[in-house]
Amino acid sequence: MKKNIKVTLNGKTVYGYEGQRILDLCTECGVEIPTLCYDPHLSLHGGCSVCLVEVEGARTLVRACANTISYGMVVKTETERAVNARRTALELLLSDHVGDCRPPCTLTCPANGNVQAYINLAAQGKYDESLDELHHHVTLPACIGRVCPAPCEKQCRRNLVDDAPVSIREIKRFVGDWAIRNKKMGFIPKIEENGKRIAIVGGGPAGISTAYYLRLKGYAPVIFEKETLLGGMMRYGIPDYRLPQQVLQAEIDWLLAHGVEVRTGMTLGENITLEALRKEFDGVILAMGCWKSSPMRVPGEDLEGVLGGINF
Ligand code: SF4
Ligand code: FES
Repeated sequence: MKKNIKVTLNGKTVYGYEGQRILDLCTECGVEIPTLCYDPHLSLHGGCSVCLVEVEGARTLVRACANTISYGMVVKTETERAVNARRTALELLLSDHVGDCRPPCTLTCPANGNVQAYINLAAQGKYDESLDELHHHVTLPACIGRVCPAPCEKQCRRNLVDDAPVSIREIKRFVGDWAIRNKKMGFIPKIEENGKRIAIVGGGPAGISTAYYLRLKGYAPVIFEKETLLGGMMRYGIPDYRLPQQVLQAEIDWLLAHGVEVRTGMTLGENITLEALRKEFDGVILAMGCWKSSPMRVPGEDLEGVLGGINF
Protein backbone atom coordinates (compact mmCIF):
# COMPACT_ATOMS: atom_id res chain seq x y z
CA MET A 1 0.00 0.00 0.00
CA LYS A 2 1.35 3.35 -0.97
CA LYS A 3 1.86 5.69 1.94
CA ASN A 4 1.16 8.96 0.25
CA ILE A 5 -1.46 10.53 2.50
CA LYS A 6 0.19 13.26 4.48
CA VAL A 7 -1.16 13.81 7.99
CA THR A 8 -0.05 16.06 10.81
CA LEU A 9 -0.27 13.99 13.96
CA ASN A 10 0.28 15.85 17.22
CA GLY A 11 2.39 18.40 15.32
CA LYS A 12 4.49 15.84 13.42
CA THR A 13 4.25 15.07 9.73
CA VAL A 14 3.53 11.41 9.04
CA TYR A 15 2.31 9.43 6.04
CA GLY A 16 -0.40 6.84 5.80
CA TYR A 17 -2.25 5.03 3.05
CA GLU A 18 -5.64 5.66 1.56
CA GLY A 19 -8.45 4.16 3.60
CA GLN A 20 -6.29 3.83 6.72
CA ARG A 21 -8.09 4.45 9.98
CA ILE A 22 -6.87 7.31 12.15
CA LEU A 23 -6.48 4.76 14.93
CA ASP A 24 -4.25 2.50 12.84
CA LEU A 25 -2.06 5.37 11.73
CA CYS A 26 -1.68 6.49 15.34
CA THR A 27 -0.76 2.97 16.44
CA GLU A 28 1.76 2.72 13.61
CA CYS A 29 3.33 5.99 14.74
CA GLY A 30 3.48 4.94 18.39
CA VAL A 31 0.67 7.25 19.49
CA GLU A 32 -1.55 5.39 21.88
CA ILE A 33 -5.30 5.94 21.80
CA PRO A 34 -7.56 4.03 24.19
CA THR A 35 -10.16 1.72 22.67
CA LEU A 36 -12.85 -0.51 24.09
CA CYS A 37 -15.31 -1.61 21.44
CA TYR A 38 -12.87 -1.66 18.54
CA ASP A 39 -11.65 -5.01 17.33
CA PRO A 40 -10.02 -5.35 13.90
CA HIS A 41 -11.67 -8.75 13.46
CA LEU A 42 -15.20 -7.47 13.96
CA SER A 43 -17.38 -5.15 11.96
CA LEU A 44 -17.15 -1.60 13.15
CA HIS A 45 -19.33 -0.73 16.09
CA GLY A 46 -18.10 2.69 17.20
CA GLY A 47 -20.16 2.65 20.36
CA CYS A 48 -17.83 3.40 23.25
CA SER A 49 -16.34 6.76 22.22
CA VAL A 50 -13.20 6.27 24.26
CA CYS A 51 -11.09 6.75 21.12
CA LEU A 52 -12.18 10.34 20.41
CA VAL A 53 -9.57 12.66 18.90
CA GLU A 54 -9.63 16.20 17.61
CA VAL A 55 -9.39 16.82 13.87
CA GLU A 56 -8.80 20.37 12.74
CA GLY A 57 -11.82 21.75 10.91
CA ALA A 58 -14.23 19.11 12.23
CA ARG A 59 -17.12 20.48 14.26
CA THR A 60 -17.15 17.60 16.70
CA LEU A 61 -14.57 15.21 18.05
CA VAL A 62 -13.95 12.22 15.81
CA ARG A 63 -13.81 8.48 16.61
CA ALA A 64 -10.33 7.37 15.65
CA CYS A 65 -11.48 3.79 15.11
CA ALA A 66 -14.29 4.71 12.74
CA ASN A 67 -12.76 7.43 10.55
CA THR A 68 -10.11 7.27 7.88
CA ILE A 69 -7.32 9.73 7.20
CA SER A 70 -7.39 12.24 4.36
CA TYR A 71 -4.67 14.30 2.75
CA GLY A 72 -3.58 17.25 4.87
CA MET A 73 -5.56 16.12 7.92
CA VAL A 74 -4.42 17.59 11.23
CA VAL A 75 -5.04 15.19 14.11
CA LYS A 76 -4.54 16.01 17.78
CA THR A 77 -4.92 13.18 20.24
CA GLU A 78 -3.96 14.78 23.54
CA THR A 79 -5.84 18.08 23.65
CA GLU A 80 -7.74 18.84 26.84
CA ARG A 81 -11.02 18.59 24.95
CA ALA A 82 -10.27 15.12 23.58
CA VAL A 83 -8.92 13.74 26.85
CA ASN A 84 -11.91 15.08 28.82
CA ALA A 85 -14.38 13.68 26.31
CA ARG A 86 -12.75 10.24 26.49
CA ARG A 87 -12.82 10.32 30.27
CA THR A 88 -16.51 11.31 30.28
CA ALA A 89 -17.32 8.52 27.82
CA LEU A 90 -15.63 6.00 30.09
CA GLU A 91 -17.37 7.36 33.19
CA LEU A 92 -20.74 7.07 31.46
CA LEU A 93 -20.02 3.48 30.50
CA LEU A 94 -19.02 2.60 34.04
CA SER A 95 -22.07 4.28 35.54
CA ASP A 96 -24.42 1.73 33.98
CA HIS A 97 -22.30 -1.26 33.52
CA VAL A 98 -24.12 -4.32 34.84
CA GLY A 99 -23.58 -7.28 32.59
CA ASP A 100 -20.80 -5.77 30.51
CA CYS A 101 -17.89 -7.51 32.20
CA ARG A 102 -19.49 -10.16 34.39
CA PRO A 103 -22.99 -11.36 33.58
CA PRO A 104 -25.86 -10.54 35.95
CA CYS A 105 -26.66 -14.24 36.37
CA THR A 106 -23.24 -14.87 37.91
CA LEU A 107 -23.35 -11.69 39.95
CA THR A 108 -26.78 -12.59 41.32
CA CYS A 109 -26.07 -16.26 41.99
CA PRO A 110 -25.33 -16.63 45.74
CA ALA A 111 -22.77 -19.30 44.79
CA ASN A 112 -21.25 -17.00 42.16
CA GLY A 113 -21.28 -19.85 39.65
CA ASN A 114 -19.85 -19.37 36.18
CA VAL A 115 -23.24 -19.60 34.51
CA GLN A 116 -22.07 -18.75 31.01
CA ALA A 117 -19.47 -21.49 31.14
CA TYR A 118 -21.64 -24.38 32.30
CA ILE A 119 -24.55 -23.42 30.08
CA ASN A 120 -22.31 -23.09 27.09
CA LEU A 121 -20.72 -26.48 27.73
CA ALA A 122 -24.13 -28.08 28.22
CA ALA A 123 -25.35 -26.50 24.98
CA GLN A 124 -22.45 -28.18 23.18
CA GLY A 125 -23.42 -31.53 24.68
CA LYS A 126 -20.30 -31.54 26.90
CA TYR A 127 -22.30 -32.49 29.98
CA ASP A 128 -19.33 -33.92 31.87
CA GLU A 129 -17.37 -30.69 31.43
CA SER A 130 -20.43 -28.66 32.33
CA LEU A 131 -20.74 -30.69 35.53
CA ASP A 132 -17.06 -30.15 36.37
CA GLU A 133 -17.59 -26.43 35.95
CA LEU A 134 -20.71 -26.55 38.11
CA HIS A 135 -18.86 -28.37 40.88
CA HIS A 136 -16.50 -25.42 41.30
CA HIS A 137 -19.36 -23.52 42.91
CA VAL A 138 -22.34 -25.83 43.27
CA THR A 139 -21.88 -29.16 45.00
CA LEU A 140 -25.41 -30.49 44.52
CA PRO A 141 -26.47 -29.42 41.01
CA ALA A 142 -29.33 -31.91 40.57
CA CYS A 143 -30.77 -30.81 43.94
CA ILE A 144 -30.18 -27.09 43.45
CA GLY A 145 -31.58 -27.45 39.95
CA ARG A 146 -34.87 -28.46 41.59
CA VAL A 147 -35.20 -26.19 44.57
CA CYS A 148 -33.23 -23.01 43.95
CA PRO A 149 -35.46 -19.91 43.59
CA ALA A 150 -33.17 -18.97 40.67
CA PRO A 151 -32.47 -15.29 41.33
CA CYS A 152 -30.09 -15.52 38.33
CA GLU A 153 -33.02 -15.99 35.97
CA LYS A 154 -34.76 -12.86 37.23
CA GLN A 155 -31.71 -10.85 36.24
CA CYS A 156 -31.00 -12.67 32.97
CA ARG A 157 -30.48 -10.25 30.08
CA ARG A 158 -32.59 -12.43 27.77
CA ASN A 159 -35.60 -11.14 29.71
CA LEU A 160 -35.09 -7.89 27.82
CA VAL A 161 -35.18 -9.64 24.46
CA ASP A 162 -37.42 -12.70 24.80
CA ASP A 163 -39.48 -11.75 27.86
CA ALA A 164 -38.06 -14.95 29.33
CA PRO A 165 -34.69 -15.85 30.80
CA VAL A 166 -32.28 -18.59 29.85
CA SER A 167 -33.51 -21.62 31.82
CA ILE A 168 -30.43 -21.67 34.00
CA ARG A 169 -31.91 -23.73 36.82
CA GLU A 170 -33.39 -26.36 34.49
CA ILE A 171 -30.08 -26.73 32.68
CA LYS A 172 -28.32 -27.24 36.00
CA ARG A 173 -30.86 -29.89 36.92
CA PHE A 174 -30.54 -31.56 33.53
CA VAL A 175 -26.75 -31.82 33.82
CA GLY A 176 -26.99 -33.10 37.41
CA ASP A 177 -29.59 -35.72 36.46
CA TRP A 178 -27.58 -36.77 33.42
CA ALA A 179 -24.60 -37.44 35.68
CA ILE A 180 -26.61 -39.51 38.15
CA ARG A 181 -28.41 -41.47 35.43
CA ASN A 182 -25.20 -42.28 33.58
CA LYS A 183 -23.07 -42.74 36.69
CA LYS A 184 -20.76 -39.98 35.52
CA MET A 185 -20.62 -37.85 38.61
CA GLY A 186 -17.06 -36.88 37.88
CA PHE A 187 -13.49 -37.93 38.37
CA ILE A 188 -12.32 -38.22 41.97
CA PRO A 189 -8.76 -36.93 42.06
CA LYS A 190 -5.95 -38.29 44.17
CA ILE A 191 -5.77 -35.89 47.06
CA GLU A 192 -2.52 -34.66 48.50
CA GLU A 193 -3.00 -34.74 52.27
CA ASN A 194 -1.96 -31.69 54.27
CA GLY A 195 -2.25 -33.46 57.61
CA LYS A 196 -4.89 -31.13 59.05
CA ARG A 197 -8.19 -32.38 60.47
CA ILE A 198 -11.30 -30.22 60.51
CA ALA A 199 -14.52 -30.85 62.43
CA ILE A 200 -17.69 -29.71 60.71
CA VAL A 201 -20.80 -29.56 62.86
CA GLY A 202 -23.86 -30.04 60.67
CA GLY A 203 -24.30 -32.30 57.67
CA GLY A 204 -26.61 -30.12 55.60
CA PRO A 205 -25.67 -28.57 52.27
CA ALA A 206 -23.32 -26.06 53.92
CA GLY A 207 -21.49 -28.71 55.95
CA ILE A 208 -21.23 -31.17 53.07
CA SER A 209 -20.03 -28.49 50.65
CA THR A 210 -17.46 -27.25 53.14
CA ALA A 211 -16.19 -30.79 53.63
CA TYR A 212 -15.90 -31.32 49.88
CA TYR A 213 -13.97 -28.13 49.17
CA LEU A 214 -11.70 -28.64 52.19
CA ARG A 215 -11.04 -32.20 51.08
CA LEU A 216 -9.96 -31.00 47.64
CA LYS A 217 -7.40 -28.82 49.41
CA GLY A 218 -6.01 -31.78 51.32
CA TYR A 219 -7.77 -31.41 54.68
CA ALA A 220 -9.34 -34.39 56.43
CA PRO A 221 -12.86 -33.22 57.33
CA VAL A 222 -15.16 -35.02 59.73
CA ILE A 223 -18.86 -34.16 59.65
CA PHE A 224 -20.82 -34.39 62.90
CA GLU A 225 -24.54 -34.73 62.19
CA LYS A 226 -27.32 -35.04 64.74
CA GLU A 227 -29.72 -36.92 62.44
CA THR A 228 -29.13 -40.40 61.09
CA LEU A 229 -28.73 -39.19 57.49
CA LEU A 230 -26.95 -36.24 55.92
CA GLY A 231 -28.75 -33.58 53.94
CA GLY A 232 -30.13 -31.25 56.61
CA MET A 233 -33.02 -29.11 55.44
CA MET A 234 -32.67 -30.54 51.95
CA ARG A 235 -33.61 -33.94 53.33
CA TYR A 236 -35.87 -33.07 56.23
CA GLY A 237 -37.33 -29.72 55.15
CA ILE A 238 -38.09 -30.24 51.46
CA PRO A 239 -40.77 -32.77 50.49
CA ASP A 240 -39.80 -35.72 48.29
CA TYR A 241 -42.00 -34.66 45.39
CA ARG A 242 -39.83 -31.58 45.02
CA LEU A 243 -36.52 -33.21 45.80
CA PRO A 244 -36.43 -37.01 45.62
CA GLN A 245 -34.28 -38.58 48.33
CA GLN A 246 -32.36 -40.74 45.85
CA VAL A 247 -31.23 -37.65 43.91
CA LEU A 248 -29.97 -36.05 47.10
CA GLN A 249 -28.30 -39.26 48.25
CA ALA A 250 -26.54 -39.82 44.91
CA GLU A 251 -24.97 -36.38 45.01
CA ILE A 252 -24.03 -36.66 48.69
CA ASP A 253 -22.44 -40.09 48.11
CA TRP A 254 -20.23 -38.72 45.37
CA LEU A 255 -19.07 -35.81 47.52
CA LEU A 256 -18.30 -38.09 50.47
CA ALA A 257 -16.41 -40.47 48.19
CA HIS A 258 -13.62 -37.90 48.09
CA GLY A 259 -12.75 -39.09 51.58
CA VAL A 260 -15.01 -37.35 54.07
CA GLU A 261 -15.65 -39.04 57.40
CA VAL A 262 -19.17 -38.82 58.80
CA ARG A 263 -20.35 -39.36 62.37
CA THR A 264 -24.13 -39.31 62.69
CA GLY A 265 -26.24 -39.10 65.82
CA MET A 266 -23.90 -36.43 67.20
CA THR A 267 -25.50 -33.33 68.68
CA LEU A 268 -23.45 -30.37 69.75
CA GLY A 269 -24.03 -29.71 73.43
CA GLU A 270 -25.29 -33.25 74.04
CA ASN A 271 -22.76 -35.87 73.03
CA ILE A 272 -20.07 -33.53 71.67
CA THR A 273 -18.81 -30.20 72.92
CA LEU A 274 -17.12 -27.36 71.14
CA GLU A 275 -14.27 -27.56 73.62
CA ALA A 276 -13.60 -31.22 72.87
CA LEU A 277 -13.72 -30.59 69.12
CA ARG A 278 -11.28 -27.70 69.46
CA LYS A 279 -8.86 -29.97 71.29
CA GLU A 280 -9.11 -32.84 68.85
CA PHE A 281 -9.15 -30.92 65.56
CA ASP A 282 -7.10 -28.23 63.87
CA GLY A 283 -10.25 -26.28 63.09
CA VAL A 284 -13.98 -26.37 63.78
CA ILE A 285 -16.69 -25.16 61.43
CA LEU A 286 -20.22 -24.67 62.68
CA ALA A 287 -22.69 -25.29 59.86
CA MET A 288 -25.84 -26.20 61.75
CA GLY A 289 -28.16 -24.14 59.59
CA CYS A 290 -31.41 -22.70 60.80
CA TRP A 291 -34.09 -25.23 61.69
CA LYS A 292 -36.91 -22.77 61.92
CA SER A 293 -40.06 -22.51 59.85
CA SER A 294 -40.43 -19.29 57.99
CA PRO A 295 -43.73 -17.70 59.09
CA MET A 296 -46.28 -16.70 56.45
CA ARG A 297 -47.03 -13.42 58.24
CA VAL A 298 -50.80 -13.94 58.02
CA PRO A 299 -53.37 -13.44 60.80
CA GLY A 300 -54.10 -16.59 62.76
CA GLU A 301 -50.84 -18.39 62.17
CA ASP A 302 -50.08 -18.23 65.89
CA LEU A 303 -53.30 -20.04 66.86
CA GLU A 304 -53.14 -23.36 68.61
CA GLY A 305 -52.88 -26.28 66.21
CA VAL A 306 -51.22 -24.27 63.45
CA LEU A 307 -47.78 -25.71 62.76
CA GLY A 308 -44.90 -24.38 60.72
CA GLY A 309 -43.70 -26.48 57.79
CA ILE A 310 -40.63 -27.84 59.57
CA ASN A 311 -42.38 -28.69 62.84
CA PHE A 312 -45.07 -30.45 60.83
S1 SF4 B 1 -28.08 -14.15 28.85
FE1 SF4 B 1 -28.74 -14.68 30.92
S2 SF4 B 1 -27.74 -16.65 31.36
FE2 SF4 B 1 -26.68 -15.76 29.58
S3 SF4 B 1 -24.97 -14.65 30.49
FE3 SF4 B 1 -26.64 -13.16 30.25
S4 SF4 B 1 -27.68 -13.19 32.22
FE4 SF4 B 1 -26.40 -15.04 32.15
S1 FES C 1 -13.02 2.20 20.24
FE1 FES C 1 -15.11 2.39 20.72
S2 FES C 1 -15.75 4.01 19.44
FE2 FES C 1 -13.69 3.74 18.91
